[in-house]
Amino acid sequence: VLHTALCDLLALEHPIIQAGMGPFASAELAAAVSNAGGLGTVGASTRPSLEHLQYELDRIRDLTDRSFAVNHNAVVAGVDPELFERTLAVRPALISFALAPPGDLVERAHAAGSLVMAQVTSVEQAELVAAQGVDIIVAQGGECGGFGGDIAALPLIPQVVDAVRPIPVVAAGGIADGRGVAAALCLGAQGVNMGTRFLATREAPIHEAWQRAILAAQSDDPRKLPEWNDVMPSATGEFPTAPRALTSPFTDALRAGAGVDESRLTLEDAVARGRLGELMPFTGQSAGLVHDIVPAGELVEQLSSEAAAVLLRLAETATAGRFA
Ligand SMILES: Cc1cc2nc3c(=O)[nH]c(=O)nc-3n(C[C@H](O)[C@H](O)[C@H](O)COP(=O)(O)O)c2cc1C
Repeated sequence: VLHTALCDLLALEHPIIQAGMGPFASAELAAAVSNAGGLGTVGASTRPSLEHLQYELDRIRDLTDRSFAVNHNAVVAGVDPELFERTLAVRPALISFALAPPGDLVERAHAAGSLVMAQVTSVEQAELVAAQGVDIIVAQGGECGGFGGDIAALPLIPQVVDAVRPIPVVAAGGIADGRGVAAALCLGAQGVNMGTRFLATREAPIHEAWQRAILAAQSDDPRKLPEWNDVMPSATGEFPTAPRALTSPFTDALRAGAGVDESRLTLEDAVARGRLGELMPFTGQSAGLVHDIVPAGELVEQLSSEAAAVLLRLAETATAGRFA
């Protein structure tokens, strides 16, 4: 069994976090992960309405007695206090943030009894959120799905580990199987935060066409779309990022120079109708490693046992003196 300090901190069996993915991180998906001993996350950002978020928060409480997380884009949580109040009221084991330094949201989460995790894409950002008192830091490589920076996971993770020690670091970006989980631990991370792989699960609340596209994708199919940031400047945080997604008629139009105002209206309408994924199928480079749709709970167990097997094999090789 793969057991790290992160498991003790959050009462988990496996150091595997299903990432916050806005409306694509549903209570049903999160509960399947948490019930298997990982940490499921309900996404709070880009929900069609406050009622929609409340429904998901009520549902995760019904579906699991185990630890779960709620994820906010720190920009939106700061702008919409009501959204954040709803999250505090369910007292999740962990509240996770991305895109901006969480600032005084850290203290409010702690006062409600939740630990805080912040996702960063550079060493400077890691030092900034460490100084704000977060409990866990996600070092997110730019190969990730959703919003990411420029630095790849392999160089970023060990640098963040060194910069913020003893704060536990979780690895994100490009991890889709047990080998990736083992690699993250070799780099000094205490666990993983995975998005793309969890989209290809039975419980993921995304359209079948998007899931089929993930299975068919090569790693260079999901591409960054910096043009998005001009369309939605209000949702763009202090940390410089751009979204990575598979292509769609909407992403094609934006790349071809579609008007910013018209694109914003199209996007806002899609969010309100729960159809964001048709316009922006956020996906990471690890899609090239994803070949099947599996139950999320089985995935957690499989990732953990595969990673443990990889690490044991390496340990045996070392013990046999073959590294000498
Ligand atoms: C569909 C999708 C939506 C995402 N939305 C969010 C989000 O709302 N908040 C957040 O912190 N991260 C979000 N992310 C990024 C994840 O937290 C995570 O860092 C990333 O998925 C890790 O890389 P991977 O996709 O290669 O596993 C999203 C990722 C995906 C794939």
